[in-house]
Amino acid sequence: MLGDRPCRAAILVSGAGSNLQSFIDQVEAGVLDLDIAVVFSNNSTAYGLKRAAQAGIDSFCIEHASFAAREDFDRAVAAGLETYAPDLIILAGFMRILSPWFVRHFEGRILNIHPALLPKYPGLNTHTRALGAGDSHHGSTVHFVTADLDAGPRILAGRLAIEADESAEHLQSRVQSLEHRLYPQAVQLVASGRVRLANGEAVRDGKPLAEPVVVDY
Ligand code: GRF
Repeated sequence: MLGDRPCRAAILVSGAGSNLQSFIDQVEAGVLDLDIAVVFSNNSTAYGLKRAAQAGIDSFCIEHASFAAREDFDRAVAAGLETYAPDLIILAGFMRILSPWFVRHFEGRILNIHPALLPKYPGLNTHTRALGAGDSHHGSTVHFVTADLDAGPRILAGRLAIEADESAEHLQSRVQSLEHRLYPQAVQLVASGRVRLANGEAVRDGKPLAEPVVVDY
């Protein structure tokens, strides 16, 4: 809650939207105090848009391919989002890098989930890279978005032990399942005002969070 009303969120998706679905389900179940005001996608065929429609949530799409410059696309997206006055922008499988302009415009209000134990493996193919490195553990991290890709202050990490001879597909599906519990938990912390970004640092209950809280799954 922010004052006497739930935090208003815009959720940005590019694909399947299983994380979006977990937010919808948890809000409907009354365990997450969030008002999902709008869903946005840069991809008109994203299944996440169907999930929004099924849940009766407003959505809109702007295809990035129709913009020559990244920032022009971001300005159009921001203008659309602003009509919903979001407190929080939740990236949930949003496969576009945001311009520094967009990040500054919504500074401290953008969250992302990245399927790795950051700062390990920013970028793509995280599951294959964790397996290839012989890591004992892997997982996913929720962080504030800054202009540096996958490098903003971390809030919560979900960790699991890699199984012997585990395939990248199997690991990915286990990581995705944990994300569906981890991301709403992190959003609840921010939506309730307990966690915020201050002077470039994540702060929890008034104290700097040098390391994210790690939850074992
Ligand atoms: C998730 O694994 C998330 O970590 C990554 O993109 C994936 C999105 O999956 N950023 P979905 O669209 O929510 O099913």
